[in-house]
Amino acid sequence: MLNAIIPQLDDGAVHPLRPYKTLEADELQTRIEAVRAHFGERLLILGHHYQQDEVIEHTDLRGDSYQLSEMAADSRACETIVFCGVHFMAETADILANRPEKLAERDGRYVNVTLPDMSAGCSMADMAAIKQVEDAWDDMAEVIDTDRVIPVTYINSAASLKAFCGQHGGIVCTSSNARAVLEWAFERGDRVFFFPDQHLGRNTALTMGIDESQMPVWDPYQLDLGGNTEQAIRDSRVILWKGHCSVHQMFRAEHVDQFRKQHPGIKILVHPECPREVNDIADVSGSTGKIIETVRSSPAGTKWAIGTELHLVHRLKAEFPEQEIHFLSPVVCMCATMYRIDLPHLCWTLENLRDGVVVNPIKVEGDTKKWSLVALERMLAVK
Ligand code: 13P
Ligand code: SF4
Repeated sequence: MLNAIIPQLDDGAVHPLRPYKTLEADELQTRIEAVRAHFGERLLILGHHYQQDEVIEHTDLRGDSYQLSEMAADSRACETIVFCGVHFMAETADILANRPEKLAERDGRYVNVTLPDMSAGCSMADMAAIKQVEDAWDDMAEVIDTDRVIPVTYINSAASLKAFCGQHGGIVCTSSNARAVLEWAFERGDRVFFFPDQHLGRNTALTMGIDESQMPVWDPYQLDLGGNTEQAIRDSRVILWKGHCSVHQMFRAEHVDQFRKQHPGIKILVHPECPREVNDIADVSGSTGKIIETVRSSPAGTKWAIGTELHLVHRLKAEFPEQEIHFLSPVVCMCATMYRIDLPHLCWTLENLRDGVVVNPIKVEGDTKKWSLVALERMLAVK
């Protein structure tokens, strides 16, 4: 439990979080529940499926990225959303919960969104900075007509990238709607510029019959056309950003082969952030929501090796003991940044709220808010 980083204060003073780190779990749990009871419906605690169990127990709702966006978009009675996920998820919640029509419904009242630990980021989202994406866009415009390129950002990205998509006729996708979003994009343009996750982009485009030879990978650290020839960019259908999830890239085709050899009849269930070599040979690939639903709807005795974040797989094992569930990799693959949100951070955040202080507020403003909302609303309208 004492795993998270305690930020240093500039003046060297003890961070106010430190006393919480010395508390036992049962005291933290009691205090968290007391604040939840105090606020009732005015407080909404959202948790992503990768969150650790001891935190998940205190959430009102949990979901995959798409479901969490919908929950934030729907939020009615609440005054504050405490987001037990990572930074881009909290930004998305702020944009959707505080869009103009929601503010009007609430007579202008703003819903505060807070992230219990500001260092809970997403390493994949950090692989694409807005300046890099803008530079790439300008560079490719020298070779192809970017008016016919639809930018698509995975929701695992900063709000500035979502805004870029909103401004350039593009859209946001999640792992649960990536195919529908790419179809939407191809109804409007000839090519897609997909960032930051090359694997989700590639795996999804392959299901649409697009050949990998038409999917050049744009490396932002290469000077010329992201390391591609002019011809490769002209021949492209989907230009993939060179980004990945450090958790899902750990799953390998040999892990699949070993499980199939050692456990005849076992089924392989993976997240589409896994590399193509794994995704291609899996039995089922889908968002965390789909992974849960697939296990839930399977008969007792089904054997699974699951390639996604460790905490979710452990929870599935505990919730479905009548099925045989294995973790696909021999090494620990966990989302270390999401894991930074723990009981001390949650308790500290909530008790501050009770005392009228919003710690770690997440607020997207100005044009970034306006244009990222455009791209998110396009996503929510795609069925
Ligand atoms: P889901 O949308 O499938 O929950 O994925 C989010 C994520 O970050 C996976 O790494
Ligand atoms: Fe980001 Fe990977 Fe963590 Fe998902 S699992 S939040 S993509 S680092």
